[in-house]
Amino acid sequence: MADQGKRVRFLSGVQPSGRLHLGNYFGALKQHIALQDEGEAFYFIANYHAMTTVQDPKALAQATVDVALDYLALGLDPRKAVFFRQSDVPEVPELAWVLSCVTGKGLLDRATSYKDKVARGITPSMGLYAYPVLMAADILIYRSNVVPVGEDQVQHIEMTRDMAAAFNATYREIFPIPAHRLDAGAKVPGLDGQKMSKSYGNTIEIFEEGNDLRKKVMSIVTDSTPLEAPKDPDKCNVFALYRLVASAGEVAEMAGRYRAGGFGYGDAKKALLEKISACFGPFREERKRLAREPAYAEGVLAEGGARARAEAQATMRLVREAAGLPPMPAAAAGAARRG
Ligand code: ADP
Ligand code: TRP
Repeated sequence: MADQGKRVRFLSGVQPSGRLHLGNYFGALKQHIALQDEGEAFYFIANYHAMTTVQDPKALAQATVDVALDYLALGLDPRKAVFFRQSDVPEVPELAWVLSCVTGKGLLDRATSYKDKVARGITPSMGLYAYPVLMAADILIYRSNVVPVGEDQVQHIEMTRDMAAAFNATYREIFPIPAHRLDAGAKVPGLDGQKMSKSYGNTIEIFEEGNDLRKKVMSIVTDSTPLEAPKDPDKCNVFALYRLVASAGEVAEMAGRYRAGGFGYGDAKKALLEKISACFGPFREERKRLAREPAYAEGVLAEGGARARAEAQATMRLVREAAGLPPMPAAAAGAARRG
């Protein structure tokens, strides 16, 4: 790479707060998996963040396993990417505290996702309020350069940049200033045309199949244009989803059918259903196989956690020193051993 051989470090996280859906796939996972070939990749399951909304311990543990299986089935390669659980790196909440002391409260007051979540009835806990600080710690502790995410997370990355700059100015230059990176499918609509989201109950899950999948696709909201009339594909939720799973040629062909008239939304839904199955069918089989051998996913996460933690500890040695905190006793012993 141009920067004297230094590779870009990508980092991203996904919360285990429910089954992953097409919005998560096209807005996040697909891009994460592609980027594992373009630089160093660190991906984690944000189980600390999920505690802001999931307080059933069994549900949290199960969703964590589900996200791991989803990523591995969809092509995350543990030989290329460091894949781990957020909670395997307890240095992250430590850095979050350090960052919170150099971050103005006003910055957090401006977070739109906090306001949205509270408006939707989520308890405004301190954890929910400080969510962007924990997220900044996730990004900065591995000194990441690029954070691939969907549109709704961009403000959090901007806040991370502010926090990194505040730390660097207060103490010394430890953190690179990270940038976000948006994927093409940045805003996937749900069944009702709003942004697809677990919290809106309008999702199509990545690993949904059979009758459940059929019912959902058939329930996608469309307007009442009669079958014979020409239709504008760009105003249709079915078409917006179709363009994510079909080839460029198939998309152009369907757009032509919409405009010509005589093509009903029911036909478009059938075509969409087929394409979803063609797109995710092979991954479904792989996921079933992985689910039968849970020790494999557990081993991947444990190993990834150890690698991520070593990176985090190296950063925290610098942070502690810069802030006037003594070294962690264990880290100090480790450093002494290494001479
Ligand atoms: P949800 O809204 O279902 O709770 P999350 O907030 O956990 O989803 O999002 C996980 C990742 O998936 C984030 O990077 C987010 O930007 C992306 N994402 C979620 N929903 C969509 C969507 N409808 N379109 C594009 N990206 C999305
Ligand atoms: N807040 C992100 C989401 O809901 C998940 C997340 C936590 C994250 N820490 C992160 C994403 C760090 C990117 C980088 O989607």
